[in-house]
Amino acid sequence: MKNNNEIKVRNITFSFDKVPKHWVLDNPIMTHFSNSMHIVFPSGEKFFIRSVRKFAKEIKDNKLSKDIKGFCGQEGIHSREHERFWDIMEDQGLNPGRFEKFLNKVAFSGKLSMENVLVKGLNKLSPRLGDKMSLSVTAGLEHYTAILANALFNEPFSINDKIAPQMLELMFWHASEEIEHKAVCFDVLREVDDSYILRISGYSIASVVLWLFLGVGQVYFISQDKDIDVKKLPANIQQFIQEIVFGKTGQGLSKNMLSYFRPNFHPDDIDDRHLAEMFFSNKSYG
Ligand SMILES: [Fe+2]
Ligand SMILES: [Fe+2]
Repeated sequence: MKNNNEIKVRNITFSFDKVPKHWVLDNPIMTHFSNSMHIVFPSGEKFFIRSVRKFAKEIKDNKLSKDIKGFCGQEGIHSREHERFWDIMEDQGLNPGRFEKFLNKVAFSGKLSMENVLVKGLNKLSPRLGDKMSLSVTAGLEHYTAILANALFNEPFSINDKIAPQMLELMFWHASEEIEHKAVCFDVLREVDDSYILRISGYSIASVVLWLFLGVGQVYFISQDKDIDVKKLPANIQQFIQEIVFGKTGQGLSKNMLSYFRPNFHPDDIDDRHLAEMFFSNKSYG
């Protein structure tokens, strides 16, 4: 079913006052996985905007052109709000800047970064192939953010009072907007080049880089954290594996991850737009 909703840009600012250091269930392993997202998402979102803007002028469909603007607006504000949390992480002694520099050097802005090597190399091989591949990686990563958003809404512990409420608000706001704009880059890619091989190649790259950098960030923040109680670590790791990797989140994610491989897949096959509508229906900024 075609989605006719307008993508609304909500310019809101969150307050992160008094967020405890281990803000997810008092578990540093779960917290630092989430903290890793505060670094990986902003850089990724800037990459999404760069990638989709390269094709914006070629899009003939008026609705899709408008959606690209809405998409870039929403991603810009997500990026800004996650970056604002870096000050809190800095005060907690986690040194987020060092991980951000590493991530950008390796993945995005460094001379030999993945983005530069991939885009320039493929563009030399065939005109615009590199630009199309970065758009395809973006569409793949947008599938991940959409299914992570879906998982959050279905995750029992997301209503747990042991997660800092201001962080939950940030996560649900971001998740809802990810659901709202989940099909934009996919539809742009389809209009630019509907090759299945291109779509799946981008998704494969997205699958490796997303989990790799989230994992590296998690390990980095664990290594920076001086307040970890080593005696509690085995139980913390067990809870992370049990509740996230093999729990409802992991199960929902793996099912939806595989759906992207279907040749006729479209993001709207996953019927969850009502979750975002429900979330915004009782918000003053909705
Ligand atoms: Fe986002
Ligand atoms: Fe997104």
